[in-house]
Amino acid sequence: MKRESRLNQLDSPAQWLVSSPQLMADVSRYLAQHVQRGSCIYFEGELGSGKTTLIRSIFRELGIEGAIPSPTFSIMETYTTLKGLELLHLDLYRIENPKELALIGLDEFREEDWAWFIEWPENGTDVIPAADLRIRLRHAGNARIVEFPPELEVQ
Ligand SMILES: Nc1ncnc2c1ncn2[C@@H]1O[C@H](COP(=O)(O)OP(=O)(O)OP(=O)(O)O)[C@@H](O)[C@H]1O
Ligand SMILES: [Mg+2]
Repeated sequence: MKRESRLNQLDSPAQWLVSSPQLMADVSRYLAQHVQRGSCIYFEGELGSGKTTLIRSIFRELGIEGAIPSPTFSIMETYTTLKGLELLHLDLYRIENPKELALIGLDEFREEDWAWFIEWPENGTDVIPAADLRIRLRHAGNARIVEFPPELEVQ
């Protein structure tokens, strides 16, 4: 990853200290390159750690305009980019049993080549696709630490 002057690199090359929602754009620009048809990214991290903010930022990077609401209550939001890439944003926080997800009808998204973005994936075990990429977020004072696998590091 090209080092951004506004991001401070921590111990591991795959950890980034991001001090504001605006600066999430720097990370999202990089992560957006890894989004493709059929890809699935898990966003793991405690309440309020910035999962929705990062996903929103990735969607902006992919050219989505207009409102990008958090699916905390709707559970699912969908978008299509100008290039025809279909994005599925799930927030499984309120799912208590993965069987509840059957009611939502995720299969149609599996058959087509949707790109999945999943918050609280631990609540959808065995029902959601396996992750191609796992992003972990956590609080660091007023900032956030965003962590992703080192193998993604490219220049
Ligand atoms: N990098 C950041 N630095 C500072 N504040 C941030 C950062 N990212 C997000 N925030 C703020 O943290 C709050 C929670 O963010 P967000 O809703 O994205 O978290 P979340 O992980 O999706 O939460 P939930 O688990 O409830 O879905 C928001 O007020 C947001 O503006
Ligand atoms: Mg959220």
